[in-house]
Amino acid sequence: MNLIPDLDLLTDDIDAPKLTTDEAVGTRQVYLETYGCQMNVSDSEIVASVLRENGFGLTHDADHADVVLLNTCAIRENAEQKVRHRLSHFRAAKTKHGRDLKIGVLGCMAERLREKLLDQEKLVDLVVGPDAYRDLPRLLHETDETGQAAVNVLLSREETYADIAPVRYDTNGVSAFVSIMRGCDNMCAFCVVPFTRGRERSRPVTSILSEVSQLVEHGYKEVTVLGQNVNSYRVEHDGTAVDFAELLYRISLISPELRIRYSTSHPKDCSDDLLRVHAERHNVCNYIHLPVQHGNTDVLQRMRRTYTRDEYLDLIDRARTICPGISFSTDIIAGFCGETEDEHQDTLSLLEHVGYDHAYMFMYSERPDTYAARKYTDDVPEAIKKRRLTEIIQLQTGIARARNEAEIGQEHTVLVEGTSKRSDAQLYGRTDTNKVVVFDRKDFIKGDYVNVRITDCTSATLIGTPLGKTTLETEAGRLVVA
Ligand code: SAH
Ligand code: SF4
Ligand code: F3S
Repeated sequence: MNLIPDLDLLTDDIDAPKLTTDEAVGTRQVYLETYGCQMNVSDSEIVASVLRENGFGLTHDADHADVVLLNTCAIRENAEQKVRHRLSHFRAAKTKHGRDLKIGVLGCMAERLREKLLDQEKLVDLVVGPDAYRDLPRLLHETDETGQAAVNVLLSREETYADIAPVRYDTNGVSAFVSIMRGCDNMCAFCVVPFTRGRERSRPVTSILSEVSQLVEHGYKEVTVLGQNVNSYRVEHDGTAVDFAELLYRISLISPELRIRYSTSHPKDCSDDLLRVHAERHNVCNYIHLPVQHGNTDVLQRMRRTYTRDEYLDLIDRARTICPGISFSTDIIAGFCGETEDEHQDTLSLLEHVGYDHAYMFMYSERPDTYAARKYTDDVPEAIKKRRLTEIIQLQTGIARARNEAEIGQEHTVLVEGTSKRSDAQLYGRTDTNKVVVFDRKDFIKGDYVNVRITDCTSATLIGTPLGKTTLETEAGRLVVA
């Protein structure tokens, strides 16, 4: 569902399948398609690495693949439906052409649907959960040998794939994801992730820092540090505890020209120390994705989010005091169990109050086994959910447009990510505050930092005039002098 106009300009469109690039190595070719969040995109890079190490090649031509793997998402009903359609498509292709094709389901649908996929629907040859990717070559061998489906959906308390160098097969060469933790212990009432990805665990500091250093050596200019709740990152390192603020600080010291973003942060764990790292380090972006989910305290309590509306708004105020000009995006769920009209109005008023630059907005979708599925009734009728979501989207679109209009005349440092989809003569990139900017190509290239004056906008995109190439350090110096 593409809820945001112009979202096709962004690289993190969460529902878009990501394709691999062809590779000459390997005898058997694997086609890998990724659904869901950035964590899944990052996991597919681990999968690609494991497969390549074991002699498989990667292809983006599904018609000529020997193995088709779908890295799946279970977050909402429609995410699962999409995968089922794709599975039926590949199964039909296999039967019709009598191909020796192996079809596998990886990721978040694996655990819950393994019986259905294997038994009732007989759709797949391979089911592999998010903690079992090291086992993929063995499982592929097993299904080859036995002709039976091979399964490993065991969740781990330790696996972080810390020693596996991800294969960045779908990269723009400028920005990369770096996974710092796996799983989630939060148990928000609506959410299936703790069931699909298991317990929270943090990756050792050294392996994170060395992965980021290698990215810098390879010319990358931006990393997005990933976890379901990065703010609860915690490890013991050299006898002291390293939390997320400390980790982010250490990452920021690797290169003054590397921009750092992260996702996702749970409001309950967003500390003042972390906000101070944003303020002190010029290369930690002035932007936080801080999902609120709802604007009413009773609903937040039913959702088990563990903060109130006022606590969330206080956090926004604190962040704006410590980091002037900081930008926020959020996630919103419309039509959660028992949501009244007044409660829905509170979400609208919170959106107005905060003034997010961007929001991902969803209708509540009941997920099996979650607290909400077990304890509450999914009692808001579909039509009302839809109407409330539409109101939320309309309001947020207007807010985003007004915030973009306020940027006209301002200058921003934009990291160029590639050519605009609308015109070869234009480039696109992002501001520090994560806004997409489109401007004339001139002599600039991917990976340049360019100063751009904003001249126009839509609700999702800024349009500007490039003023010249710059560096992050130059811009930081200018701010200090000013
Ligand atoms: N770990 C992240 C969220 C990951 S899921 C966090 O805590 O912020 C991404 C988003 O999907 C959530 O923020 C939520 O808005 C939405 N989502 C999760 N479960 C959902 C459900 N059952 N129905 C609708 N939206 C859901
Ligand atoms: Fe799901 Fe909540 Fe964990 Fe996010 S913090 S992944 S919403 S349980
Ligand atoms: Fe989907 Fe799993 Fe991410 S359920 S949103 S792919 S963690």
